[in-house]
Amino acid sequence: MRKWLLGGLAVLLVLCGGGVAALVYFFVRPPLDVRADFTRPLRVPPPAASTVDAQGRRVFELRAQPGDSDFGHGATRTWGYNGSFLGPTLRAKRGEQVVVNVRNALAEPTTVHWHGMHLPAAMDGGPHRPIPTGGSFQAAWTVDQPAATLWYHPHPDERTEAQVYRGLAGLFIVDDDEPAQRALPHDYGVDDIPVLVQDKDFDGGGQLSMGGRFGSDIGVLGDEILVNGTPGPYLDVASQLVRLRLVNASTARIYNFALGDGRPFALVGTDGGLLDRPAMLDHVRLSVGERAEIVVALSPGERVTLRSVRALGGDLESRFNGGQDAFDILQLRAAATLRPAALPATLVATPRLDPAKAAQTRNFQFSGREINDRKMDMTRPDAVVVKDTTEVWNVSNGHGTPHSFHIHDVQFQVLRVNGAAPPPELSGWKDTLFLEPRQQYSVIARFADYADPTTAYMFHCHVLKHEDEGMMGQFVVVEPGQQPRLRH
Ligand code: C2O
Ligand code: CU
Ligand code: CU
Repeated sequence: MRKWLLGGLAVLLVLCGGGVAALVYFFVRPPLDVRADFTRPLRVPPPAASTVDAQGRRVFELRAQPGDSDFGHGATRTWGYNGSFLGPTLRAKRGEQVVVNVRNALAEPTTVHWHGMHLPAAMDGGPHRPIPTGGSFQAAWTVDQPAATLWYHPHPDERTEAQVYRGLAGLFIVDDDEPAQRALPHDYGVDDIPVLVQDKDFDGGGQLSMGGRFGSDIGVLGDEILVNGTPGPYLDVASQLVRLRLVNASTARIYNFALGDGRPFALVGTDGGLLDRPAMLDHVRLSVGERAEIVVALSPGERVTLRSVRALGGDLESRFNGGQDAFDILQLRAAATLRPAALPATLVATPRLDPAKAAQTRNFQFSGREINDRKMDMTRPDAVVVKDTTEVWNVSNGHGTPHSFHIHDVQFQVLRVNGAAPPPELSGWKDTLFLEPRQQYSVIARFADYADPTTAYMFHCHVLKHEDEGMMGQFVVVEPGQQPRLRH
């Protein structure tokens, strides 16, 4: 009996010792600094095929399906649209009517949401109308907003993180007739390159793992980067200027994009369109769901690396949330002779929304997994907005966890960050905004064109684990005098 007790004690000691050692390791372990080998050419998502129907509408087909992908770990089981991972790039011009036929070939319900798109609530792909296995949904609307880099991804109730992580995401590029679009590099896949960035965690069997990282309050933080599904990619460039459409399509990680030698680049666009003029920056930070269009200048024959450098402060919580990690993202390889190109001095003229004309001011406090102390309830409208009015939304993050604030249907303008004017990267159209720990933001948006008392739009944290755990609310846009009657 005594021998048994002693043996048990020894086992316990070893286990505890191991536990303590592991704990100490997690606290002192250095942040990630992941270097890539740049041996694979960057994959560029194919432009989505489309047809024009009898009514002149541009028709796309998307099929969410499982498949196998090679990321250098053997066959990894993944999900994609019309393929095994990610989806084709949809593209339409302002003024065009589009139809997307979505089919679900997955073993679980899904939806497709058009992130950044101004469209009727019933077409928005929110969690209220899941597409069952084997089912389909037809989304149809008229594209009417400035040219921009938008994206699409699933939005099912409580399963968004898992589905996006598996590979369901794609780009939706909106075009328009602004001369700046043609003055900037605009040859898709040649000098106008989508850069959809995701971090992944692979298990020993080469499968995508969602185990999460010790101490992370935001979900999976991977130690490998895929760009458009390519690990360690390089891109051959034959022009003096290359336009990169950066998309943070991760589920949790915040990136801080910079060039390896610290040289500045031109920020030309944000979530919802081009800036009024290029802004020279040496880094741009993107939280989950945010986009930035940047133009990089290259000299003949050189190699320049796009990296992600530390995105958050050095406190323990930020460290645990990956804020000190660094990654190689993409190597740009300039040809020996480069086609001349010049950056336009001005881009577009953005009308400014006037807070003095706002019909409403609302306050949203993000804390824990709640917005204003409430979790998502699909039967409860959290805001009723009158169509064709402007509102100011004050949004604050009261705690140390990073959040990413996204509003469906609209593009907003940032009025203030902690009472000050926004920096260049927050000066243009936005649909998603990084809520830094303990900071306050004020944004303004116009809720134009579409009213539907029966169907809500979402606003939520775009850290997908937080969204799935209920950090989401709904707003309903109504005609003046109308009451919401949510159909659910
Ligand atoms: Cu990118 Cu509600 O989503
Ligand atoms: Cu969205
Ligand atoms: Cu959050």
